[in-house]
Amino acid sequence: MDRIRIRGGNRLVGRIAISGAKNAALPLMTASLLTDQTLTLTNLPHLADIATLASLLAQHGVQVSMNGDAPNGGHSGRALSLTARAITSTTAPYDLVRKMRASVLVLGPLVARAGRARVSLPGGCAIGTRPVDLHLKGLEQLGARIELKEGYVEAAAPGGLKGGHIVFPTVSVGATENLMMAASLARGDTVMVNAAREPEIGDLARCLNAMGANISGIGTDTLRICGVERLHGTTHPIIADRIEAGTYAIAAAITRGDLELVGARPELFEAFLECLKRMGVVVTTTPDGLRFACTNGELVGVDVMTEPFPGFPTDLQAQIMALMTTVQGAAMITETVFENRFMHVPELCRMGANINVHQASAMVRGVPSLTGAPVMATDLRASVSLVLAGLAARGETTVNRIYHLDRGYERIEEKLAACGADIERIGGSA
Ligand code: EPZ
Repeated sequence: MDRIRIRGGNRLVGRIAISGAKNAALPLMTASLLTDQTLTLTNLPHLADIATLASLLAQHGVQVSMNGDAPNGGHSGRALSLTARAITSTTAPYDLVRKMRASVLVLGPLVARAGRARVSLPGGCAIGTRPVDLHLKGLEQLGARIELKEGYVEAAAPGGLKGGHIVFPTVSVGATENLMMAASLARGDTVMVNAAREPEIGDLARCLNAMGANISGIGTDTLRICGVERLHGTTHPIIADRIEAGTYAIAAAITRGDLELVGARPELFEAFLECLKRMGVVVTTTPDGLRFACTNGELVGVDVMTEPFPGFPTDLQAQIMALMTTVQGAAMITETVFENRFMHVPELCRMGANINVHQASAMVRGVPSLTGAPVMATDLRASVSLVLAGLAARGETTVNRIYHLDRGYERIEEKLAACGADIERIGGSA
C-alpha cells in the first residue's frame, strides 16, 4: 500500500498549477446522463474519483473517452467526453457506490432521463453518517415515487417528473445538484429555496444552461428551473479547484514559504483568504493567479468556524488546523457542517500538536515545532492535513493509507517536490 514519506523543514518556493475542481467534475459528469448527445469536459483533474465515476457511468451505458493527455505534464489539456446515447441500466450497484458517495448524483439524472433509478444507499464514511434524505424528499416533491429496498433507493416517475416547490431545511450541496439536474427535464417550473451556493453548483448550472436548460438565480440561495423537453451536448471547462488551491496556500504558510498558485481565483474562497490575511500571510493577486508569502514576521492564531458557502469551507478545516498548530497563540476551530470531522486531531497530536476537542470545537494552541511521526490517513482532507504538518515537522513523517489522497489531489508529491519539499511516494507492503 503506497505511503508518502516527508522530511520536514524546507521552505516551499515556486509555482503550482491548480487543477479543475473534483467537486465540480463529479456532478458535471453525471449531467451527461441527461442527454443523448456528447458532453465534453475540459480542464479535467486526473483523480481516482473521476475514474471511479467514469466506470459507474459506463455501466449505465455512457460512452466515456479521455483525450488530450495534458501537454508537458500539466493538466489543462485533459478532456473527457461522455455520451449517453441510451441508458442501458438504471441500477447503480453497491460495490461501486460504496467506493464514492458522490455516485448518488446519478439518481436525479437517471429518474429525469429514464423515468426510474435503483441506486445503492451510499452509506456513511469517516466524517459522518452522510444521509440522503434531502435528495429523496426533493425527488418526491418533483413527483417521483421513492421506496427503500434491501439497501437500495428505488425511484420511479414513469410519466416523467413535474415542477415543484422545494424548501431545504438545511443546506446540502449534493441535494441541490441532484435536484437541479432532475428539475431541468421536469414538466413545469421548480423553485429551490435555501439551495447551496458553492461555486461548483454555479459551474454545474452554467453547464446545464449551455446544454439547453433554463436555470436562473445562479449564485443565490433561490434557484428557479423551468423544465425543458430535452438537453443537448456542449463543451464545458471545469472551474478551478478552490480546495486544492487552499491546501497549497496552507503549504506555503506552514513552511513560511512563498508560492504562486496559477489558476487560483480569489472570488471562489474569500472567507478562507480573509482568515489567512488575519493570520499574517501576505496574499497578492498576480496576472496568473494568487501568491501566498510569509514575509511579515510570525503568524498568529485566528478563530475559524466552518459554514456553507460563502463561509469558511469545511473541506479546508483539517488543513487550517494543521497550520494553527504551528503559529503563535491559540485558535478555536468549530466544525458546523459534519458531525465527525476531527479524525485528523489524534494524528496531529502524535506529531506534538496541542489540540483539545470539545464537541464541535477544537482549541488549538501553537507549539514551537511539530515532530515527524508515522501517521494514518482516514479521509481525503484529514490525510492532506497530515502531509502539511509533515512539511513543517522536524524529522521524518510517513503518511499511510494515501489512497485517500489520490482521490482528491493530482500528483501532490510531484507538485510539492517541485517547490522544494523533501517528499516521496514509497510503494509496497504496509
Ligand atoms: C459535498 O458533499 C462535497 N462533496 C463535500 O466534499 C463537502 O464537504 C460538502 O459538499 C459540504 O461542502 C462533493 O461535492 C462530491 P452536503 P455532500 O449534502 O453533498 C447533511 C471532499 O472532501 N445532509 O452539503 O455530501 C450532511 O450529513 C468532500 O471533497 C443531510 O442531512 O455534502 C452534512 O452534515 C467531503 N441530508 C450536511 O448536510 C442530506 O440528504 C452537508 O452535506 C444531505 C446532506
